[in-house]
Amino acid sequence: CGIVGYLGTRDAYPIIIEGLKRLEYRGYDSAGIALFDGTDLKVCKTKGKVSDLETLASKEITKHGNVGIGHTRWATHGVPNDVNSHPHISNSGDLVIIHNGIIENYDSLKQELKSRGYTFKSDTDTEVLINLIEDVKKQENVKLGKAVQIALNQVIGAYAIAVFDKNKPEEVVIARLGSPLAVGVGEDEFFIASDASPFLEYTKNAIYLEDEEMAIIRFHKGIKVRKIKDDSIVPAYVQELQLNLEQIEKGGYEHFMLKEIHEQPKAITDTYRGRLLRNEAIIKMAGVEDNMKKFLNANRIIIVACGTSWHAGLVAEYIFEDLARIPVEVEYASEFRYRNPVISENDIVIAISQSGETADTLAAIKLAKSKGAFVFGVCNVVGSSIARETDAGAYTHAGPEIGVASTKAFTTQITVLTLMALRLARAKGTISSSDFRQHLLELELIPKKVEEALKSDAHIKMIADIYKDSRNCLYLGRGFNFPVALEGALKLKEISYIHAEGYPAAEMKHGPIALIDENMPIVVIATKKGHYEKVVSNIQEIKSRKGKIIGIVTEGDVQVKELADHVIEVPETLEFLSPLLTTIPLQLLSYHIAVLLGKNVDQPRNLAKSVTVE
Ligand code: G6P
Repeated sequence: CGIVGYLGTRDAYPIIIEGLKRLEYRGYDSAGIALFDGTDLKVCKTKGKVSDLETLASKEITKHGNVGIGHTRWATHGVPNDVNSHPHISNSGDLVIIHNGIIENYDSLKQELKSRGYTFKSDTDTEVLINLIEDVKKQENVKLGKAVQIALNQVIGAYAIAVFDKNKPEEVVIARLGSPLAVGVGEDEFFIASDASPFLEYTKNAIYLEDEEMAIIRFHKGIKVRKIKDDSIVPAYVQELQLNLEQIEKGGYEHFMLKEIHEQPKAITDTYRGRLLRNEAIIKMAGVEDNMKKFLNANRIIIVACGTSWHAGLVAEYIFEDLARIPVEVEYASEFRYRNPVISENDIVIAISQSGETADTLAAIKLAKSKGAFVFGVCNVVGSSIARETDAGAYTHAGPEIGVASTKAFTTQITVLTLMALRLARAKGTISSSDFRQHLLELELIPKKVEEALKSDAHIKMIADIYKDSRNCLYLGRGFNFPVALEGALKLKEISYIHAEGYPAAEMKHGPIALIDENMPIVVIATKKGHYEKVVSNIQEIKSRKGKIIGIVTEGDVQVKELADHVIEVPETLEFLSPLLTTIPLQLLSYHIAVLLGKNVDQPRNLAKSVTVE
């Protein structure tokens, strides 16, 4: 979910609405806003997107007022409908809240409140929380800030909240545990948001709350940060943001996803800039350098991640083992954290996360740390929770990724992990200095080659048009390109809702082959160096079952061209770098299919970009 709030001298409504639109990547099942219009509290909320909220608001409320909070929701408790949408109001009608996260013990708290006469309109955990705060406020006869603090100490779960009292609208109380929360500090005004994007054009000064911290924000009086546990005061650290507005706008592209696909040459260059020093034949990564001993003595590396980041981890497994000869295991963070894993002090855990906020990945990191492992983070969002929680790390520098389907985050994660593997391989002596030099040279050519691969766009659109009505699709690859097949399938299902599966090409004969008939498109990654002959045999097997073959091949390929229904060429490169190129046509294919089907590419149904609940 996404949170926005405002307290100051301007009209809060447009700031909150525009801010919510920028946060829709965090969920878009429903949206709502609460404003204090000078005399009373006005709440407007609805199922659907922020644009639906705008339509409703123009009918239902006056949009004036200098204090307000808004929310865009990704449903956890209760279906996405009008009643379950945020903000939620306490029984007295005085207190209003927005909440991102889950209150796990909400049911027992609800029963207790019910026994005290409280009633509930929605099925949400949030409505329980606001009434708990109200109850504490009355019972203990304390101010709002204190009531929030006491209530949160009774709560089990994760949250980022913003609360205010309509009888004291010059004060907003916020708190964070497990879900991000930033405060933009302007001149006599404050912006509250899940990330800085809603307030970038107003101020570059931001305070990021840490877990277990809350803040009381008062008009004219400033902000006080405190520990939720014991109410102790924490110095508020104001940092200056480097982000600018252009980075989070579409820049002439029809969709963020397309923009981000096309940004990959630049994003990959930004990732290795300053790290890959070809003339000196070195790779410089402070996080690796500072901990080189640990890396060299590691028994193994365990990679934890979710979604697309997990696929980047799988590619890294192949690269690390091949180049640096370090055993690697790749785990879904959600599985790892709950299965009592065997971890020791000689294990290194690498956590990969675009947002740096994924709840399962964060929990996996905490678990690994508690068992003494050294944890290294690969994140895109600077200053994110995972970046802060890990012992060391490397940013991907891909720039903000807004499209829910991850594209440039994936290729830049692979780039960072490749740099790490090469650096470690050199330190361990598992590759020769001449190979090392040649690899650096080739890696530096990748952005140009991605640009080449992007030129197939029109051809891919034509292929998309032929297969857009398919019900199923299979993606096959081997070796370094097996994870790319998984990622290609994920991209298609995420945004076009066509069922797709990725498989190691040779495993096809152990099941998926039964699905193949003349209606089944099969995307096969068949680049020159990746077990080419074996993949060609797999293609023959598909052909004899009349499957429709879309081959991703190396420029100038002859053999697959003869067998396949369509081929899409990518430039030649070293095998371990090929995922950076073969991914590109798969991203474009799913993009075009989704657009042709009229789907919402940037905000596919039921998904969220940043999943801060487990
Ligand atoms: C969500 C997003 C995916 C992303 C995954 C992991 O499911 O929709 O695109 O790969 O979370 O997110 P992270 O930010 O940890 O990489």
